Amino acid sequence: MCGIIGILGKVQVAPRLVDALKRLEYRGYDSSGIATINEGHLSRRRAEGKLRCLEEVLEHSPISGTTGIGHTRWATHGAPTVLNAHPHIAGKVAVVHNGIIENYLELRAKIARQGAEIASDTDSEVVAHLVNAELGQGKAPENAVADVLPRLKGAFSLVFAFEGCDDMLIGARKGSPLAVGHGDGEMFLGSDAIALSPFTDRVTYLEEGDWVVLSHSGVAIRDADNQIVARPEARSSVSATLMDKGNYRHFMAKEIHEQPEVLGHTLSRYLDYGSKKTHVPGAEKIDFASLNRLQIAACGTAYYAAVVAKYWFEKYARLPVEIDIASEFRYREAPIGERDCALFISQSGETADTLASLRYCKQNGAVIAAVVNVPESTIAREADVIFPTIAGPEIGVASTKAFTCQLAVLASLAIQAGRARGTLSEEDAKGLVEQLAAIPNHAVKALRLEADIQKLAHSLSRASNVLYLGRGTNFPLALEGALKLKELSYIHAEGYAAGELKHGPIALIDENMPVIVIAPHDASFEKTLSNMQEVAARDGRIILVTDQAGADASDGVAENTIILAEMPSLIAPIIYALPVQMIAYHTAVFMGTDVDQPRNLAKSVTVE
Ligand code: F6R
Repeated sequence: MCGIIGILGKVQVAPRLVDALKRLEYRGYDSSGIATINEGHLSRRRAEGKLRCLEEVLEHSPISGTTGIGHTRWATHGAPTVLNAHPHIAGKVAVVHNGIIENYLELRAKIARQGAEIASDTDSEVVAHLVNAELGQGKAPENAVADVLPRLKGAFSLVFAFEGCDDMLIGARKGSPLAVGHGDGEMFLGSDAIALSPFTDRVTYLEEGDWVVLSHSGVAIRDADNQIVARPEARSSVSATLMDKGNYRHFMAKEIHEQPEVLGHTLSRYLDYGSKKTHVPGAEKIDFASLNRLQIAACGTAYYAAVVAKYWFEKYARLPVEIDIASEFRYREAPIGERDCALFISQSGETADTLASLRYCKQNGAVIAAVVNVPESTIAREADVIFPTIAGPEIGVASTKAFTCQLAVLASLAIQAGRARGTLSEEDAKGLVEQLAAIPNHAVKALRLEADIQKLAHSLSRASNVLYLGRGTNFPLALEGALKLKELSYIHAEGYAAGELKHGPIALIDENMPVIVIAPHDASFEKTLSNMQEVAARDGRIILVTDQAGADASDGVAENTIILAEMPSLIAPIIYALPVQMIAYHTAVFMGTDVDQPRNLAKSVTVE
């Protein structure tokens, strides 16, 4: 993970580096640092903790220069300490790194034998030592970097600055993204267009194996064979304004409350309200009628969206669907071919395992589709067709509005596929479109439950373990609820298909175990009610999230009941996601955790 930035500018660079790092904090926020070159002299400041700690260090101990590099870290190798924070300096070279140098132990042992003094526990520092050793042989910086890059195994993006070189930065990418920004007499390097957005909207994305030498007068890009190559310059549409929380205490709260609006935006891209038909731009690139199979891979919350989608594609389009956690899929050597469509779901569009899975399927000839929230992301750029979620930037680390928008896109696509395969009549498809069109209104009503949920969250914040249960398309919501609760409040939680209860988890039930049951009064409600009885018989404390009919039918089994409006089962997993998110959010607020940036996490997971 980690966010990196390099600036060859005309004005003092330190505040600009920090500004860029603020936009990259979603990639990691456990420590940060910058280094500048001032009249040939290399200076560095680093801090443990959030970026404001680095700002404090810089206030007391400023550094000057118009050229510099910066880094915000998500620790992989070595604890989040000042010594392990980037930039790493060895002799005349400073480096910032995103990714993992897989052969660092071997390299480290070698440079230690040659007398290098290693200051950190990181894999990244070895790169600085290797380049410095080449400089020591009298090589120019670009030749030193060119000789070191082939020795690095793993995934990385790197930016180097050199003592004595105010007019040079070198960047390299293999496996992790890096973009060049073209300014007015200034040049930039950054993990993505978001980092570059305050400085320029003219961006060149480096390709795999590329490395680049920047000076004030321009840029020279070379490929992995050291041949000069031309890479296209694009206009980035990323906004330069830093997102603010509005009147909300946290980004997550704001993002939960934005859902009626962003779901409306997303649906209006995929539904034609006049004709009551789905209209999915790009769907024509997938030959649904003769498709063999849909393979979906994603991570975390996006994977749970895939689990819901499986139910929809199978039911409405009678299309066999395989779903996989991307980190497993990428190494599974799954048979996949030209008559398959591989679909990848990702808010960031940068998740390393999802991207690797995409590339595997591409090599095997499948049509590649992606549901992404960041249209300029690597996954979006490498897919044959993208179905964007119009959720707007999601800043809170825990995914909320991106998840429900992913579901809205996937439901529209499943209906479109059903029409294309002849498994859904026009009449039935219209009925489903009407149901989807009602989502924003239902979302507004669901948000009105916040005060009740807040009270409930108070008692949940005292629990050590929580179990979530659901059936059908609400089973993935149980998984999602447990994930949200544990990542935000650090309370241990597990999600289960309600029918699985008696196959093991029931042993956990006692009077201290809250069991959150997500069960609208649908065709499987009776079955879930039996599961609730089983919990109640063992003194478990049931919190039931349901509708009025469900509340009536459950008649006192639950200790607490959250009652949503009645709605068709197609849209239930989208709307029921809102109380599930609010339960986790308010529990975390009661517990005083860092809701927007929970410990150990990052918004974009660019390492495997
Ligand atoms: C949980 C969460 C993560 C992400 C996962 C995938 O709240 O946000 O589980 O869903 O890291 O990220 P994307 O969607 O960017 O590929």
